Amino acid sequence: MRLISEKILNFRNIASAEFVPSESVTVICGENGQGKTNLLESIFLLSGAKSFRKVKDREMITKEEDFSVIDASFFAERREQSFHFTISDKGRRASLNQGSEQKASDFAGTFCCVVFSPDHLELVKGTPAERRRFLDTALCQLSPRYFNDLKTYTRLIQQKNTLLKDARGIAAAYDVLDIYDGQLAQCAVGLSKARRAFIGQLDVVSKEAYASISGKWEEMELGYESTIFSDGEFSADAAYQRILVSRADDIRAGFSTIGPHRDDLEIRINSDLAKTYASQGQQRTAVLALKLAEAELFRQKLGEEPVLLLDDVLSELDGFRQEFLLKRLGRSQAIITCCEPNFIERRTDAKVFRMQRGELTEE
Ligand SMILES: Nc1ncnc2c1ncn2[C@@H]1O[C@H](COP(=O)(O)OP(=O)(O)OP(=O)(O)O)[C@@H](O)[C@H]1O
Ligand SMILES: [Mg+2]
Repeated sequence: MRLISEKILNFRNIASAEFVPSESVTVICGENGQGKTNLLESIFLLSGAKSFRKVKDREMITKEEDFSVIDASFFAERREQSFHFTISDKGRRASLNQGSEQKASDFAGTFCCVVFSPDHLELVKGTPAERRRFLDTALCQLSPRYFNDLKTYTRLIQQKNTLLKDARGIAAAYDVLDIYDGQLAQCAVGLSKARRAFIGQLDVVSKEAYASISGKWEEMELGYESTIFSDGEFSADAAYQRILVSRADDIRAGFSTIGPHRDDLEIRINSDLAKTYASQGQQRTAVLALKLAEAELFRQKLGEEPVLLLDDVLSELDGFRQEFLLKRLGRSQAIITCCEPNFIERRTDAKVFRMQRGELTEE
């Protein structure tokens, strides 16, 4: 997988830019607030996912403009392909290889990338929602079925929650809840199975990466904490029964209290729960190991290297971890932002660009 070129119009502070990265390492340098992360964000959107910055689509359009356009050509499945991508009142839309325009998310899995950002430190110490987001973003790119299940599940949960707010004592509401719960149970099986399989694979690769960085005397371990399935048997019947048992709690709370939308990815370091006990250094190592594992699983599943977007992460890492990360980039295309390019330039044959007030120039 490789980005060949990108032409940007009205995206955040980038009024217009043309970007042709190197096939291997590209560095975008510049002072704070100049538009480096904006450029990475514009590339990440091609994956079909929402921005990694958790913002509304509208906020990515240049202020006082009505739409943004990104024209990208990229190499995937052994051929050159193109996206015409727009953000407007109609949301994020795209057409692939000059085909018909559709919701951008319909193209999830076509262009795959993995982003490393300092915000990912929240993966370890943050809320379960951060870790679910990590799992869902990766799985949606890897499996259209997961993407569809998640979309249906999320819609059903919203509908069920609306009903739960005024369900108490209304007999008819219980019949509708039965229908929702039956459908939710079906989706929960698909989502939970996929998550458990993915976490199992992540565990193997991240363990190895963590051991290499930490010097082998520490072990990282991942587990799937499901709120529905305790015994690893994923059946829709069992899920339905569990959801039914929680109904009184759901009505009292006014929302659905169990299901994949409440699950967690458990991270342990030397058997201790990382969200409670991990030190700063252990968090950094765990996040790096998780992200490298994500990239490696993409490579195994797609048979192609995903594009790696490294947002200002090198400055967050000590020398040893920096070297480790750069070595592990391997043959992937990597686009790296930083304030000071010297370090990377010395170690790679990087193509260097400077971003200044939304204007991109090659150095
Ligand atoms: N919708 C928008 N329209 C115009 N400008 C925007 C919009 N959204 C963000 N910006 C501007 O983009 C700039 C931030 O860009 P970005 O986050 O890419 O900076 P950066 O180069 O990555 O900086 P840092 O090194 O601090 O991370 C800010 O000046 C912000 O005002
Ligand atoms: Mg930035």
